[in-house]
Amino acid sequence: MIILAIESSCDDTSVAILKDKELLSNVVSSQIAFHNKYGGVMPELASRLHVEKITYVIKEALEIANVKLEDVNYIAFTQGPGLIGSLHVGMQAAKTLALLYNLPLVPVHHLAGHIYANRFEKEFQFPMLALVVSGGHTEFVYMEDELKFKIIGSTLDDAIGEAYDKVARVLGLGYPGGPIIDKLAHEGKAIYPLPLPKNDQSFDFSYSGLKSAVINLIHKLEKRNESYLKEDIASSFQKVAVEILIKKTRHVLNQMPVKMIAIAGGVAANQELRTRMQELINKEFKNVELSLPRLSLCGDNAAMIGMCAYYRILNNNEFGSLDCSALATYSIEKF
Ligand code: KG4
Ligand code: ZN
Repeated sequence: MIILAIESSCDDTSVAILKDKELLSNVVSSQIAFHNKYGGVMPELASRLHVEKITYVIKEALEIANVKLEDVNYIAFTQGPGLIGSLHVGMQAAKTLALLYNLPLVPVHHLAGHIYANRFEKEFQFPMLALVVSGGHTEFVYMEDELKFKIIGSTLDDAIGEAYDKVARVLGLGYPGGPIIDKLAHEGKAIYPLPLPKNDQSFDFSYSGLKSAVINLIHKLEKRNESYLKEDIASSFQKVAVEILIKKTRHVLNQMPVKMIAIAGGVAANQELRTRMQELINKEFKNVELSLPRLSLCGDNAAMIGMCAYYRILNNNEFGSLDCSALATYSIEKF
């Protein structure tokens, strides 16, 4: 089966072509250069840029895959969650193709897509735990079976990616902050003590206090005219931001019968998180398999949407209709 998948939930316009689970093409057109000067994504601008790019991205993905629209069997798209204007563009493109070529529409949950990005690396083993870490979400998702999602912990306030972006903004490092802080952190030393956020036995997270603690620290240093290295701030922040993910993962693995853990979302690209998680599994949970998505599939992309759609199709889940809506907020438990 040939699947054409579209992802447009935030600031990446992406189209992928899959032949079953084989990825034939995955074109990602990033809008970062346009949003960078605002220090974050401007929703209205994002929608307009998706409108400008989407048809070219579809054309390019088909050309790279050497597939014609007439050969496509299913149209998959991200239904939500995300920026509503951005989602509408991808969904409308998907509906138009489905109508013209009389094809079934397969709506996909964005975070389910991030989790299924791991399927390009490994088969899933259930029960499985997914640690979803992105710009809008930080949650533990427990999967008893294929496409069955239960949220067992989540952030009470900010997402981890949001905290990375905010700290980067205060340090004047540009958007998105995650990759920049990650790089700087390895060049500095974690000399500033910061509190471990929500350091308790629950499976929940909280990143807003840590974000404020870093901002206060920078203000304090500047008020006192004390010089500091951005690398050291980045390193101190990253140490704590990742440490709590590791600690909470340990709690979950000690309490739930998990065979495999998959890391998902933009922050899955974080080098410290990848290394520390590998160490945790190697040292303390030898019977648990760890899956890390390849770096090119950590951020938003349509390949992951296509992979998730493939399993939806295999499982005969009900498909979307031409009158379905995009969902700005959408719990993965409802997918
Ligand atoms: O999944 P994603 O591309 O978009 C959402 O669905 O939110 O995640 C984007 C987030 C941003 O906050 C970005 O700063 C963060 O992922 N990010 C990182 C890294 N690469 C991207 N955070 C920490 N370390 C990284 N290497
Ligand atoms: Zn995402």
